[in-house]
Amino acid sequence: MVRVAGSLMRRVLGVDLQDELKKHVAAKAADLVRPNMVLGLGSGSTAAFFVADVGRRVVAGELPGLRCVPTSFQASVLANENSLTLTTLNEVDTIDLAVDGADEVDPHLNLTKGGGGCQTEEKLVDARAEQLVIVVDSSKLVHRLGEKMPIPVEVLPLAYRQVGQKLTTIGGKPTLRMAKAKAGPLVTDQGNFILDTEFEQMDNPGQLEEQINNIPGVLDNGLFVGLADKVLVGEEDNGKLSVREL
Ligand code: A5P
Repeated sequence: MVRVAGSLMRRVLGVDLQDELKKHVAAKAADLVRPNMVLGLGSGSTAAFFVADVGRRVVAGELPGLRCVPTSFQASVLANENSLTLTTLNEVDTIDLAVDGADEVDPHLNLTKGGGGCQTEEKLVDARAEQLVIVVDSSKLVHRLGEKMPIPVEVLPLAYRQVGQKLTTIGGKPTLRMAKAKAGPLVTDQGNFILDTEFEQMDNPGQLEEQINNIPGVLDNGLFVGLADKVLVGEEDNGKLSVREL
């Protein structure tokens, strides 16, 4: 009976556990932010917790002079809601720190991103940052990129068929991402389409990242190779939450 209650409790707790891990890891990353920094704000649900934490520090007067570069429309809306001062890529000389989520993290700290469709802006900001810190819960750790999700490829709408054909010739299986509450394809913040592309073999993600980006009509793709300086992983063991640094 106790065992049943325990496992039920665990299942009930399990519903929220992932969110708790995201909050935990986001709070750790928020401690890295310093006054007068230019900060890159990632996209997705983990980055959203981070923005809220940084906002609390701003309201408490701990971060004078902080300016933030968003990686998506979502990030800019959240920044406004959380009292953060926004700037743009064209107005800053450097980005001191960027904190972003990821969909997959491999043992070499290479990433798959773009589950939320923001990978092109995210890569612009993340690649520009002096330090890129990735915040994930432990479900995002994989042995090999592409294990859990396809690679999002952002394409010009007028070129989606020809890009799709090219992706097939390099071993990909592209699927046009469809919108959830609109008829037709999902349209990114930049007005483009996404081809979610499965690759059975991905021995060299860096080479594949370049190969995909060399296809005319591709804006960028969700492979982030060699960009992350640090990955913070939220973990749970016997009900105890912790953050591991990779
Ligand atoms: C947005 O396009 C993505 O790259 C996100 O950063 C990624 O999907 C992680 O999102 P979650 O933190 O919501 O899992």
